[in-house]
Amino acid sequence: MNDDKVYIFDTTLRDGEQSAGIAFTREDKIEIAKQLAKLNVDIIEAGFPATSPGDLDAVASIAREVKGPVIAGLARAVPDDIDAAWEALKDAESPRIHVFLSTSDIHMAHQLRKNREDIIEMARAGVAQAKGYVSDVEFSPMDASRSDTDFVYQILEAAIEEGATTINIPDTVGYAIPEEFTAFIQSIYDNVANIHKARISVHCHNDLGMATANSIAGVLGGARQVEGAINGIGERAGNTSIEEVIMSIATRSDLMNVYTDVNHVELYPASKLVERLSGMQVQNNKAIVGRNAFRHSSGIHQDGVLKMRETYEIMSAESVGQPTGESIVLTKVSGRHGLSARLEDLGIDLETIDLDKVFVAFKDVADRKDEVDDRDLIAIISEHTSFDFDEVWTLDLVQVSTTDHGRPTATVRLIDSEGNIFEDAAVGEGPVDAIYNAVNRVTGAQNTLTEYSVKSVTEGINAQGEVTIRIETGSGSYMGRAADPDILVASTRAYIHAMNRALNDAGTL
Ligand code: KIV
Ligand code: ZN
Repeated sequence: MNDDKVYIFDTTLRDGEQSAGIAFTREDKIEIAKQLAKLNVDIIEAGFPATSPGDLDAVASIAREVKGPVIAGLARAVPDDIDAAWEALKDAESPRIHVFLSTSDIHMAHQLRKNREDIIEMARAGVAQAKGYVSDVEFSPMDASRSDTDFVYQILEAAIEEGATTINIPDTVGYAIPEEFTAFIQSIYDNVANIHKARISVHCHNDLGMATANSIAGVLGGARQVEGAINGIGERAGNTSIEEVIMSIATRSDLMNVYTDVNHVELYPASKLVERLSGMQVQNNKAIVGRNAFRHSSGIHQDGVLKMRETYEIMSAESVGQPTGESIVLTKVSGRHGLSARLEDLGIDLETIDLDKVFVAFKDVADRKDEVDDRDLIAIISEHTSFDFDEVWTLDLVQVSTTDHGRPTATVRLIDSEGNIFEDAAVGEGPVDAIYNAVNRVTGAQNTLTEYSVKSVTEGINAQGEVTIRIETGSGSYMGRAADPDILVASTRAYIHAMNRALNDAGTL
């Protein structure tokens, strides 16, 4: 199997979610999966159903609701995982079970404590079991790039014999170098007798910053599926940024003679969506989707681009869905129409937000800033997604008094879902601690604050501060986020945001 199409396998919702600090809700996952379907990726790896009932449920919801791409679920080569994957995928239009098993000596000896014969047997049994459920089975020898190549050939042949239709070569720890990875993929064609019955895929991690280069090297070696995540999120330094692979193939088709079926203009909206829901910010100079990817700063470059765009651009902002220029500048005199248009440009589905609330929050920020830019809007949206949960508590007032002699005091006034007003005050070690103590006194909440971070959304003295927190309650771990030009107000709202999520989930804190 070696035609000219490269299949795009998106693992934002599985490997991407394995990034430290990311935990998508089920609704987040469905929204991302729908955007991936708009992007027209070929396969969405929706999760790893055996890891938790929540993940199984999210994969099952995507399997039911998202049409178009193949929906894949990951499973170790053990019976319970494969059963869980099938349970989650059974309603999908086109389900795929992705079975993986480590093949490097270091993983087999120290992690699995199994010998090569055991591993081949497990791979055979796992693929055969998955094949009993679905015709579309992918097999991955984990840590392939550090495995004995003859052993990889042997296990691939066995997996294909059992019915695997895709065999994926993971560079699990981002160890490969492009030239050697091309040669490795080519060698599979020469050493695996039944390889013509399967498609070769590559799955690269970015530990040495070479994930995209290695993925393209894999394609040059004959791989016809590439795995990656939007914005390159994933374990450690992340996965291949799938947008980089897609645009490399589109831009250098002259060299590679391959294509994808991806709808490129949905890349930027997908990136913004994942950035917003993951809370993991895209760096300004990130290829394809970064804020500066199509901005020119030096006089010589500006001059060239104004005369002819192609002088300094190898693709256009429009082709990847990046907004071009500042045609709509949002300020305090802007209306709902301008705001809605800008939100839609950012890939935000207006159905999923409460536009009235977003408009009020936008006006509040615009009153305190000359211009509200895309980063401000994303910060506002992150806080005001309406599908997510009901607001059990809302903030009416917060007032803090700090001093360098003694402890700060905070007063908060909160409104419950029936409109009742409650007010209380507390002291704390610092102003945020005082606020959180006062909120706890009003709500009776018992929880532990495990993470707190504040960052500036944009440049400038009047920039909004975005506060992200995580709390642990008896029922789990909940993230809260809010942005405001006053970081103490943002801290209060972020805390209430997290508490409301927890209350919706568990009914009590
Ligand atoms: O990096 C890896 O090896 C994986 C496998 C599960 C494919 O994510
Ligand atoms: Zn991986």
